[in-house]
Amino acid sequence: MRISVVSGPNLDRLGSREPAIYGTATLADVHRAVEEAARVEGATTHCMQSNHEGDLCTAIGRARDDGFDGIVLNAGAYTHTSIALYDAIRASGVPTVEVHLSNPDAREVFRRRSRIAPACIARVAGFGVDSYVLGLMGLVRHLRAAGVGKSAGASPRPPSSE
Ligand code: DQA
Repeated sequence: MRISVVSGPNLDRLGSREPAIYGTATLADVHRAVEEAARVEGATTHCMQSNHEGDLCTAIGRARDDGFDGIVLNAGAYTHTSIALYDAIRASGVPTVEVHLSNPDAREVFRRRSRIAPACIARVAGFGVDSYVLGLMGLVRHLRAAGVGKSAGASPRPPSSE
């Protein structure tokens, strides 16, 4: 099972960006944490970050063609503005979990609206790096329950000697 972990604008600044809100973990730390969680869950991750809406749309829209079964997405501020990202998630047809380090609902009013939420299967917010980890774990379990990643070639039972 392959999971695409996508981070949007300004998340490359994690570690030094508003540590009182986002903590001191860097994006590399986030990527290490999701890779480890994926390994434990029997999945693999590919992590990317971009400050550009179009690049994010392209990565999400192509996710199925690129062999991904699910997406963990922190769209940053585009969460609140981007109909293009909403469309890209729907166009990809790939189950997507919205994640946020902070809890946008407990912050400025303009962060309370998520444009992408209606296209996502779930949302995890407010747990810092663990939002990514919990989002990934939930996504992998959701996909597995839906039959994704079951080994095609389970060994047949040997013929009975009776
Ligand atoms: C964020 C929350 C967004 O409102 C904000 O614009 C971000 C980060 C988060 O992870 O808490 O850039 O997505």
